[in-house]
Amino acid sequence: MDIRKVGVIGAGTMGNGIAHVFAKSEFEVILCDVQQPFLDRGLQTIKKNLEREVTKNKLTADQGEAATKRIHPTLDRKELAACDIVVEAASEKFEIKSELFRDLDSICRPEVILATNTSSISITKIAAVTKRPDKVIGMHFFNPVPVMKLIEVIRGLATSDETYQHVKALSEKLEKTPVEVNDAPGFVSNRVLMPLLNEAMYAVMEGVATPEAVDEVFKLGMAHPMGPLTLADFIGLDVCLDIMRVLLAGLGDPKYRPCPLLIKMVDAGWLGRKTGRGFYKY
Ligand code: CAA
Repeated sequence: MDIRKVGVIGAGTMGNGIAHVFAKSEFEVILCDVQQPFLDRGLQTIKKNLEREVTKNKLTADQGEAATKRIHPTLDRKELAACDIVVEAASEKFEIKSELFRDLDSICRPEVILATNTSSISITKIAAVTKRPDKVIGMHFFNPVPVMKLIEVIRGLATSDETYQHVKALSEKLEKTPVEVNDAPGFVSNRVLMPLLNEAMYAVMEGVATPEAVDEVFKLGMAHPMGPLTLADFIGLDVCLDIMRVLLAGLGDPKYRPCPLLIKMVDAGWLGRKTGRGFYKY
């Protein structure tokens, strides 16, 4: 399969990072979102992050500029008909994704792979709304996308070996390392990470230690680049809560119950870095 043109749906944190890495690896990118300000903000972020790479001598100024020019923003989903693969990074709501995949199924050529960057929704369930479940797959990137080397490649129940092999090869072209996992709540990354973050929140709630102390333990004792509460703020507390709920509903074990402090903070609108307040103030 010759992949040249890539569709990316969603210009938010993950979507703009995904568009960035494809464009940097010389793919043409159609970046689609539902409102012009979302596209403008996404493109601005891509430009800033590419410039950062130029400043750090990871890219030449010409390469940075060429990558920017490979990204074509659009509000018209029908333009994705020209794409050889589509990676969806829209909101983490099943209703939104199912509507999108149904539509993509009718817009894209039948051989086109439809990938989703979902961090917790079942790939099998998303695939089932299309007539090509064998060509639907999870391509889970990590924030910040230009920096993190992993792509968790998730096979739904019906995903074909051929689709998996194409996505594996494509991930390697992006200079990322694909890791194959099967479809299960939270896949591997969030099944293991989120309970860690949730437990760190329990430690704070129960007065075992301050957020600063919990984070120091993990940074200095386990060489994590960010402590669990800084990381939770970075990911977004609403996202953490949604994922804990998916784990609890999908696995049915009370060990996955979301920390009450997390629920309270999300109710207060303290969603972490993006709202200026979470476990820390920004
Ligand atoms: N775009 C491009 N480059 C970036 C960047 C971005 N958005 N953000 C940081 N960088 C680069 C910097 O330029 C810097 O490059 P050099 O090493 O060449 O100097 C490098 O990344 C490190 O950045 P900084 O020096 O500014 O800061 P740092 O050392 O504190 O690192 C970090 C920042 C990379 C974010 C680091 O703290 C880290 O790895 N944190 C953990 C991130 C993590 O766990 N992400 C996964 C979240 S879970 C997820 O995404 C999935 C999910 O489903 C919830």
